[in-house]
Amino acid sequence: MVKLDRKIKEKLFLEAIRVRENAYAPYSNYKVGSALLTDTGEIFSGCNVENASFGLTVCAERNAIANAVVEGKKKFIAILVLTQDEEPGTPCGACRQVISEFFNPDAVVLLANTSGIKKEILVSELLPQPFKFKKSL
Ligand code: THU
Repeated sequence: MVKLDRKIKEKLFLEAIRVRENAYAPYSNYKVGSALLTDTGEIFSGCNVENASFGLTVCAERNAIANAVVEGKKKFIAILVLTQDEEPGTPCGACRQVISEFFNPDAVVLLANTSGIKKEILVSELLPQPFKFKKSL
């Protein structure tokens, strides 16, 4: 597991708290904030953005990743997900696959609620066998 110092974790937490306020969740009323750390030490974040056509909703984690990719970053070492649940929510299946695209299996997933970081797991625990595209002959 990548060792993260306390200050970095605190920064990720505060950033997720900040952007969670901007979540657009009028249908579920379930606001999610996410912040990731790049291998170059930068932080990018995202919130969930829902849609009247429910299936078009984009989760906070995928928006955080997209925001980083937009800025040319593609290697990430930690991601924090912040939900309102007492027992912090974990990324959905679609997000697990997208996380596996940009994070190594030993990258850290920090699960938090509004009172703090409650759990740390590895990307490999989140999705043990991600789909990887292999070019055929
Ligand atoms: N949601 C996320 O943002 N991340 C997750 O990992 C799980 C679910 C959002 C999608 C939707 O806006 C709301 O939470 C309820 O499912």
